[in-house]
Amino acid sequence: MSYRDEFRQSIHDPETFWKDKARLIDWHRPPEKILTRTDEYTYTWFEDGELNTCDLALDAHLRNGRGEQTALIYDSPVTGQQQKFSYTELHARVARFAGALQDRGVTKGDRVIIYMPMIPEAVMAMLACARLGAVHSVVFGGFAAHELAVRIDDATPKTILTASCGIEVQKVIPYKPLVDAAIDKAEHKPECCIVLQREQVAADLKDGRDFDWSELEANAESVDPVPVNATDPLYILYTSGTTGKPKGVVRDNGGHAVAMRYSMDLVYGARPGDVFWAASDVGWVVGHSYIVYGPLITGCTTILYEGKPVKTPDAGAFWRVVADHKVNILFTAPTAFRAVRKEDPEADALDRYDISSLKRILLAGERLDPPTYDWLRDKTGLPILDHWWQTETGWAICCNPVGIGMMQPKPGSATAPSPGYDVQILDVDGSPMRRGDQGQVAIRLPLPPGCLSGIWGDRSRFIKTYLEPLPGYYHSGDGGYIDDEGYVFIMGRTDDVINVAGHRLSTGEMEEVVASHPAVAECCVIGVHDELKGQLPIGLVLLKDGATIEHDELEDELVEMVREHIGAVACFRRAMIVDRLPKTRSGKILRRVLRSIADGEKYSVPSTIDDPTILDDIKDRFRH
Ligand code: COA
Ligand code: AMP
Repeated sequence: MSYRDEFRQSIHDPETFWKDKARLIDWHRPPEKILTRTDEYTYTWFEDGELNTCDLALDAHLRNGRGEQTALIYDSPVTGQQQKFSYTELHARVARFAGALQDRGVTKGDRVIIYMPMIPEAVMAMLACARLGAVHSVVFGGFAAHELAVRIDDATPKTILTASCGIEVQKVIPYKPLVDAAIDKAEHKPECCIVLQREQVAADLKDGRDFDWSELEANAESVDPVPVNATDPLYILYTSGTTGKPKGVVRDNGGHAVAMRYSMDLVYGARPGDVFWAASDVGWVVGHSYIVYGPLITGCTTILYEGKPVKTPDAGAFWRVVADHKVNILFTAPTAFRAVRKEDPEADALDRYDISSLKRILLAGERLDPPTYDWLRDKTGLPILDHWWQTETGWAICCNPVGIGMMQPKPGSATAPSPGYDVQILDVDGSPMRRGDQGQVAIRLPLPPGCLSGIWGDRSRFIKTYLEPLPGYYHSGDGGYIDDEGYVFIMGRTDDVINVAGHRLSTGEMEEVVASHPAVAECCVIGVHDELKGQLPIGLVLLKDGATIEHDELEDELVEMVREHIGAVACFRRAMIVDRLPKTRSGKILRRVLRSIADGEKYSVPSTIDDPTILDDIKDRFRH
């Protein structure tokens, strides 16, 4: 079927469309009910189906004669290691580690937090949880102890899985002290903590609570996959919202598995046996969907890369990995290639490597700026495909449907809505806008399979954030427009979420930290444009009367506080003392205007502003 036909059917007859796509996976009990409306707002997919996601990712390939194929390649320039696991080998390790978890009392429905670096055991941990029907929640290693504690209290895990350290280029970061601090801080206490000892650092184990990963695995028996209902949760993944409290996006098993299998073909054009590399981290949704589940459910070889696009050891790192492992499809964030381009503008490193295996490069996670698009296309001669999605959706809302026929890419556009997503541009009142006009990007309900089924433990936040603002639609939080030819352009968030090096962060959360400094009376954190990372946060701070602290001292303290509280990944490095903050008469800080001033863009002075002269003061401050 052509893209047009496929899209039309998915919108007009979603049940037939997804019933057909559900046949792509191996169900324990195939679903009879395809789409069910559960209430005014929510729907479920494949309600009466039964399956096991780990079975699809591993056992199914053994049954189908793919056991000897490489499932996972671990490539770690930071340790100088490379390791390959066939489907048979990965299956054996996962089945045994699932046994180890079961021995520690983990069963179906229990939550398990995984706080790990990019090593094979992180993937094994996720799959072992899925095998037992336990719900994993992976926390990105760049988050500080406080962030981990917040997630421990929200997910109330039975167990935490971690490693003794992560490695950031040449910096070894001990993880266990962070985990210990988080457990101390959290009200909920997990029953145990299982620690993988890496050779760079030996973690201290607390008697009775902490266990050595290798010992537990060595003494465990393999266990079989536990069938779960399609609507049972597979994982919780926390993402930033507009408040300080992260949202636990819940993904179910059935819809997710179907969406993963379908999107690997549609969006990436990946076939069983292809070598697929998502250069991201298992702590982000890209890692969940396209390092682990998508490629493995499809029978691809997936690459787990413990390194950076530059400095490990140089800007040729990505090309080296492609050449070494004959990568067919590469997916990363635009910021990674901005970093490569900055260090190697002529792409000289490409001369050292044979990247002829590579068929296309996919980019997402932030806006793909046309200069990066042009550079990458010119230097590689490959199709460069932008696609737009979110932690919430788990797979591309808009893409270039390369699996069923590539469309002519347009720089700056994520191309067309994926089948299943009825994308509309609405104005502030929720009315449809004309082609070419910029507004709120919304998706008419129901969302397709694989999208979030809720926010963990907080149904009212789920409804309020996503489903209530635009009745009948999912509110994406992104702004954009659709052009005359139906191409979708995503222009950025309409809320206080910012995107730093492809990482989604909440300015509201940073504001809470900055505001807690004893000298700070009021503050505002905004994202300003950055050539490399897309955006960087900057704090505008109003001091308390009588506070005498110097700017540099305050800035150092605030930077340290944000690192301590949220983590280095926030990249909060600048704060500015101001005399006043621009506000509406009702007291709301005019963040959008501040952002425009900081980026040197034109802005209109809102009629609701309390005192317009403040804007001139702020402009002067930014100029200096
Ligand atoms: N564990 C611990 N610390 C981490 C970490 C992790 N997993 N990931 C990042 N950090 C730390 C870094 O060490 C750095 O700390 P520092 O301030 O002490 O130097 C800080 O967080 C910022 O890291 P990063 O954003 O990686 O910036 P960078 O300047 O080191 O590298 C890029 C810049 C562009 C090369 C890098 O951001 C990158 O590779 N981006 C790709 C983005 C990506 O994969 N996004 C995923 C979504 S697809
Ligand atoms: P995350 O949930 O971390 O994947 O971040 C999702 C957000 O990243 C989206 O809401 C967008 O703001 C932004 N984003 C992701 N992909 C794109 C893209 N291709 N173009 C523009 N913005 C994007």
